[in-house]
Order: sequence, then structure tokens, then C-alpha cells
Amino acid sequence: MEDNLRELYKKGETVELTISDIAEKDRCFGRLESGAGVFVSGMLAIGDRVRAAVIKVRPAYLEAVAQEVLVFSPDRVEPECPVFGVCGGCKWMHVGYEAQLCYKRKKVHDALVHIGGFQDCVVKPVLPARQTLHYRNKVEFSCSSKRYLMPEELNKEVLDKPADFALGFHAPGNFEKVLEIDSCSLARECMNRVLGVTREFALEHGFSPYAARQHTGFLRNLVFRYSEENDELMVNLVTSWHDADMMKAYGDRLLSVMPEQKMTILNSVTTRKNTVAVGEKEYVIHGEGCVEERLGDLQFRISANSFFQTNTAQAKVLYDGIMGMAGLRPDDTVYDLYCGTGTITLYLARNCRRAAGLEIVESSVADAEENAVLNGITNASFFRVDLKDFHTLHSTLEELGFPRVIVTDPPRAGMHPKALRTMLQFQPETIVYVSCNPANLARDGKEICASGYRLEEVQPVDMFPHTSHIETLACFRRAV
Ligand SMILES: C[S@@+](CC[C@H](N)C(=O)[O-])C[C@H]1O[C@@H](n2cnc3c(N)ncnc32)[C@H](O)[C@@H]1O
Repeated sequence: MEDNLRELYKKGETVELTISDIAEKDRCFGRLESGAGVFVSGMLAIGDRVRAAVIKVRPAYLEAVAQEVLVFSPDRVEPECPVFGVCGGCKWMHVGYEAQLCYKRKKVHDALVHIGGFQDCVVKPVLPARQTLHYRNKVEFSCSSKRYLMPEELNKEVLDKPADFALGFHAPGNFEKVLEIDSCSLARECMNRVLGVTREFALEHGFSPYAARQHTGFLRNLVFRYSEENDELMVNLVTSWHDADMMKAYGDRLLSVMPEQKMTILNSVTTRKNTVAVGEKEYVIHGEGCVEERLGDLQFRISANSFFQTNTAQAKVLYDGIMGMAGLRPDDTVYDLYCGTGTITLYLARNCRRAAGLEIVESSVADAEENAVLNGITNASFFRVDLKDFHTLHSTLEELGFPRVIVTDPPRAGMHPKALRTMLQFQPETIVYVSCNPANLARDGKEICASGYRLEEVQPVDMFPHTSHIETLACFRRAV
């Protein structure tokens, strides 16, 4: 069959199939009656019957784009967002939440089986989020001189909104064009209100929008952070230069329109030729310039550029899960690899003799040290290191004591092979692997088990409802 695919199917032809699974790269999967597997892109759900156009015939499968849904899956619901399907932020908003959780659990299970070779692994049901909308504590809007036009606008002679100013989200895969957003369902209501006031103020005062290709223009980003603990909003306007009078007027406008909202207002300035919303210099217009958040009984100071989990309530669920798997004893030494601002390290430190956090970003390490002081924690140490050079810290770490437990929370790419090797050389009894990418968890997990560990527990936690992202906790124990 596989050898014949190129003879049986041609690029451009239309096929009909039922979606049976989700797949990588936001695609779905189904089989034709002939048995040929098809990866289909489009906003689909398991159970949809679709008509799709073949765009590539590979030796072992076809790639296609959905043209029409012929029969809708029972998993489907009405998406709650007017720009669903265009924005690209909430790719699963058309799927009911219970079904989303099943898809996510299956995604973790399939990666562990097919990539990791964990044939009989048991993946626990996903720990769901209680709040599935307006849950983000950080949202980053972009400003552009090129507005992404909605399909219905393309043939209009006169547009309702200017085409040369947009404040919203980058259109998927487009670094230049921005889709205008009035209200984002994942952002807090106070963020959406400030978004509207900022747009009004910017247009009223003739702010020039950033043009990424030409590297010109004043207004680049509007970044929010929010503290649930204090109901405080950080508003960070990222611009190409600082205009003190204008920023004062902007701050005054926000404070007068939303007097009830506790706020700190900043202006970050960057001259970099990219669309990353990080300033080279920061001006505090109002308030402290940072917010404080509580996780369990720990307090964290979050500045404009510090890393902090974007779903506060689920971060607590995740960290409690880590604690449960770590099973710490009072005389334990524990290492927290890829520790960011030290949130997990400090969580662990309260329940062991000594905790060490390792992280590459200098400002995160500084934040971690500050957070330890803020919480009166004296048994946590932090080290700035690229974890691929982890072995160079061997003698320094020896003084702290070798770890019985290691927690590792790498970025999407997973652990660097050298970091993984060094971690295994410490031979901890327990490794708690925190992963935002099931495929790389499976790849690294396979290596861990090849060094004499057993995969004991897999617990996914939903940090990002309506997206395909899933965080997973995996507990490996050294076989004795
Ligand atoms: C997924 S975050 C984990 C954050 C933290 N554990 C938390 O829960 O807040 C991954 C972290 O790894 C850090 N990182 C990325 N590459 C690294 C490397 N090569 N060496 C050390 N740290 C790295 C990033 O700066 C980031 O803070």
C-alpha cells in the first residue's frame, strides 16, 4: 500500500475521511478507506467527517488541508471568541473542555509509547483547570503598522478601522502583521479594559506603530502581568524611545479611567531590531514597577522581565504535584535544574536540608536569590550556569551534598544530552521531570530508564485550557 501512494493519489485531489486522532504541528489524523493515513490541517476535532485537499503525497502518508466539515464531531462546542481560527492563540476553543483533557492525556500517552517505548505506561487523567477563561497572568500584545485584515475586509473599498495601525496579536507565522484584538478570552478583564484605553490614547496622540521590516515607529508592545494575591495589574508599554511627558499623560489617563484598579505602570524602551517585548531600559511611571504574587505560603516578586508561570492557580497544582512525587525527607539535598526565578527550589527548600537551583539567565538567578530573602529561606543556593556545562559545578555542588532527589524543568527542547548525562551521574534516587513537551519528555525519559530508572508515575496538569499545550510531571525512581 505504502509504495503505491504516489500512484494512487495526486497533489490537489480531494479526499473524504473521518478524523480519528490529533497529531503534531496542530494537525489531525485520519485514514482513507484505502487505509492510507492522512495528516490534515485545519481547526478540527476527533470525530469530524471532512473533505480535504491533498497538498503532499509522501511515501508513507498524505498531507491535506481541510476544506469543509461534512459531519461535526460531538466533541465540538461554539468557540467563545470572535477571532477564533484567525488569531491562533486558542487552537482548541471549538472543542469541549472535557474532550480537550482527553486529547491532552492521549497526546502524552502516545508520545511515551511511540517515542519513549513505554509500552505499558499509565498516564493519569489530566488535572483540570478550575478557571478555563481569563486565566493568564501575563499577556503580551503587539503593535504594528500593518493590520492583518479579516477575510470579510479583503474586498472592501472603505475599511471601518485603519489598516496602518493595529494593537493585538501577531497573525500566526507573520512577524509583520498584527490582528486587532478588542478583548482576549484568556486575558483578565482589567487587561482588556487597559487594551482599549491604550488604543484610544495612542490613536488620539498620533503614536506611530512599530514597523518590523523598516524598524521604525514608536509603539511596540503592551505587556501585562497580574497578581491575583493583590489584584494588582502591571502595565508595561514597550516603545522605541522614552517620551516622559507623553508617558505621564498616558499613566494619568489609565489611572483616571480605572481608578478602582490597583496598578503599576512602566515604560520599557528598546531599540532592538526584533519583535521581542523586552526593554533595554525601564522607566517606572506609577507604583513599584513590579508585582508580588503568592503561591501556597510563599511570596514572589515579579518584575517586568522575570519568568513566572502564566497560570497562577495551576502553578500551585503543578508545584504540589512535584512535592508529592519528590517525597522529600528532612535531611535531603535536592537540585532544581532550569530553576527560573527559583519558585520550585524555594517550594522544595522548606521540606529538606539543602536545595540548589541552577539556571542560565542571570536576572532570573538574581530574582531567585531575592525571593529566598523575601521568604526568609536560608537553605537554598542558586547558580548561574548553562546546564550543558553542569559537570563543571561538580566540586561546588559536592560541598552542598549530593542529591537524593533532582527536579528538572527544561524548556521545550528538553534537556541537553550533556546535562542529562551529568544529572544521571549523580545517581539520585528520584528524578521528577517537569515537561511542557511530551515528545521530549519521552525522548529524555527513554535515556533515563536506560540508566537504571523506572518510570513510576505520569501526571499531566492543564496549565493552558483551549490550547494544545500540556504540562506533564513524570516521576522516575532508581531501580535498586
Ligand atoms: C520551563 S522554564 C522553568 C522555570 C521554573 N522551573 C518555574 O517553574 O518557574 C525553563 C527555564 O530553563 C532556563 N534555561 C533554558 N536553557 C537553559 C540552559 N541551557 N541552562 C540552564 N537554564 C536554562 C530558562 O531560562 C527557564 O528559566
